[in-house]
Amino acid sequence: MELIFKKKILLGVTGGIAAYKSAELIRLLIKAGAEVRVVMTPAAREFVQPLTYQALSGHKVYTDVFDAEAESAMDHIELARWADLMIVAPASANFIAKLLDGYADNLLLTLCLASKQAVAIAPAMNQQMYLNQATQDNIHRLKSRGVKIWGPAQGEQACGDVGPGRMLEPEALLGLIEGRFSPGKLSGKKVLITAGPTHEAIDPVRYIGNRSTGRMGYALAREAFDAGAEVTLVSGPVSLDSPAGVDRISVTSALEMHDAVLSQVSGADLFIACAAVADYRVTVVAPQKIKKSAKNIQLELTPNPDILSAVTRLENKPFTLGFAAETEKLEQNAADKLKRKNLDMIAANQVGGGQTGFESDTNELLVLWPGGKQMLSLNHKNEIAKQLIDLLADHYNALE
Ligand code: C5P
Repeated sequence: MELIFKKKILLGVTGGIAAYKSAELIRLLIKAGAEVRVVMTPAAREFVQPLTYQALSGHKVYTDVFDAEAESAMDHIELARWADLMIVAPASANFIAKLLDGYADNLLLTLCLASKQAVAIAPAMNQQMYLNQATQDNIHRLKSRGVKIWGPAQGEQACGDVGPGRMLEPEALLGLIEGRFSPGKLSGKKVLITAGPTHEAIDPVRYIGNRSTGRMGYALAREAFDAGAEVTLVSGPVSLDSPAGVDRISVTSALEMHDAVLSQVSGADLFIACAAVADYRVTVVAPQKIKKSAKNIQLELTPNPDILSAVTRLENKPFTLGFAAETEKLEQNAADKLKRKNLDMIAANQVGGGQTGFESDTNELLVLWPGGKQMLSLNHKNEIAKQLIDLLADHYNALE
């Protein structure tokens, strides 16, 4: 209970029948010692009177961007800064779509845009609306940006349907809110992560690349941030949203990634090399587009520096996790690499088709460390990332 004592919670309420449950959530938060301010969308006011929330929170409810009276108490930017945590419960399908697209046509959306920290949302809607591909895609993208999605629960709905879409019960939401304030396993630690492929230029329009999408590295960055770490992500060219709260440095080639990592590594407690770095670059990049001809042409390739080895050679090297993407002899090759690259841990995955590795949403990892190993069996990359950060943090903390 002490976790949220005196914490400032901004509760957003959107239009949904579950808005009546938000009254109970306010009561529980106040009882636990939190300070609560409530913001309602116009649609929310069709379901519950602001006075209900005002009586429970002890403060005037904010409803309007241009409310002169409320603005004089605390303007909307100040209100966004005031909050230690913003939670929207219930979050309607319409609100979720607008949040994703950065709309600011009501006070709550404006506050979400003006907030530096990740927002948590508790979706609540009819099961068909929830299962609609549009809503599913929106939720998926918000999640990848670092928005916490709490629920929904399954069961009977106000409209008579049965299925997913019920707002989580207030007690469950209180537990999740408290969880956001409990110190994570990597609290106060600095984590540097590489992710994605590198592109090695051939000429101004062509490059040598690989099939890495960056999804695993981005999921690790999100999980490390969630575990309380300060995260810097050095990313090759990918089409992914930056996770909220993570400091991203975008690079293109292996040499750029090498330089960015070495300029960031001092002070890092942990280093995770998840990028699929090109082993070679083109020795001489053509200044103009190479013209087509009937003859064979040859590209001379120069080895790129091994970024991971450069980090583990440092005198004050961080605790280091490397990756091994293998098409054969997974354990043997990974064990060799663990030793050869002087790593603290290595996560090996089978690549080249199937449900693991590049271009897949799922992965399976064999994690090795000197004297031990653990299998993280086939799961969504987000879940695998959570398990891997947990394992990494346990090993790192055991050394401290
Ligand atoms: O030797 P190999 O490329 O299989 O090693 C893979 C591991 O080394 C990964 O963690 C990858 O991020 C890292 N690596 C690197 N710089 C390179 C090549 C690989 O950091 N040039």
